[in-house]
Amino acid sequence: MVPYLAGGVILTDAPLHRRRRQTINPGFGKKHLETLRGRTQAALPPIPDGEFDALAWADGAVLSLLNGAYFGGEFDSHLLHSFLAPLRRPFPVPALPRPLLFLRVDAELRRLATRRLMAGGDDLLAVLAPIPGGLEEARVSLAAAHDTTTHALAYAVWHLANHPQWHAPPHHPAVLKETLRLHPPGWMGSRRLKCELDWNGVKLPRGTLALYAPYLSARDPQLWDAPQQFRPERWEHKPPAWAYLPFGGGERLCLGIHLAQMLILDVLSALPSLRAVRGDDSPVPGITLGPRGPLMVRRVS
Ligand code: HEM
Repeated sequence: MVPYLAGGVILTDAPLHRRRRQTINPGFGKKHLETLRGRTQAALPPIPDGEFDALAWADGAVLSLLNGAYFGGEFDSHLLHSFLAPLRRPFPVPALPRPLLFLRVDAELRRLATRRLMAGGDDLLAVLAPIPGGLEEARVSLAAAHDTTTHALAYAVWHLANHPQWHAPPHHPAVLKETLRLHPPGWMGSRRLKCELDWNGVKLPRGTLALYAPYLSARDPQLWDAPQQFRPERWEHKPPAWAYLPFGGGERLCLGIHLAQMLILDVLSALPSLRAVRGDDSPVPGITLGPRGPLMVRRVS
């Protein structure tokens, strides 16, 4: 596993995993996130005038939003950028060990956590700091949060710029669901079989490692009408069971499911009217799936 994700809840196996999630889930629950919302809304960088690359803009915007949610904007932004930027580069860059960089990030986490422990606070670090291993959870979940949310936001902006009739807050939840159906940043996951399985005549014993692909199940013509098309109206109805898994499922459901949705929907609401100019939205698989880019859009005044 890449060093960024090799820790905390991601590396904790059952049966300890469930207890670990129970400890950290409340900080990432809807109720606590609502208390952070004013702060993350204020952390959104200005939307550029004229033409801009939605992918590059989303990258910087998500960095700032996460800094707001986790640290009240106090984390050294250059260090945060240096820490997270390699994750979006092609392999093997994200897999290279970066002991010095990680030490600097851990030192910054400790500096800010000490402040929270002495003076209190209500950001995500304030919730994680008193938990044993909480700083590692902060570092690992930041890494899990950054390019997933960046890619989802960039694709959502691109879809809105191509289908401006959907650019209104009441439509945005369906736009986001449709974006994550077509372009799930978490494109591949794994599970161990809980019981023996007969699959097309092949017997797979309990404990076999099985891969699942949210990208493929969300484009299966046996499960979806016109699966390749962007049709937010399809979300007037429930999707078929287990066909839609952009945040995974079961006990390892994404920890940041509510955070990601809150951040992205708030950004979409803050965006002016946009039109697509030109771009390459073909999906490029890395740790997460993202658009090749650039995705050039322009403001319509
Ligand atoms: C649109 C944005 C996001 C997408 C599409 C996404 C997707 C996923 C997926 C598919 C998994 C499950 C992997 C598996 O099969 O085991 C997962 C797990 C996880 N996600 Fe996200 N994620 C997003 C944003 C975030 C954010 C904002 C955070 C910040 C807290 C986060 C933290 C995590 C963590 C810590 C796990 C591991 C959970 C565990 O093993 O118990 N993710 N995510």
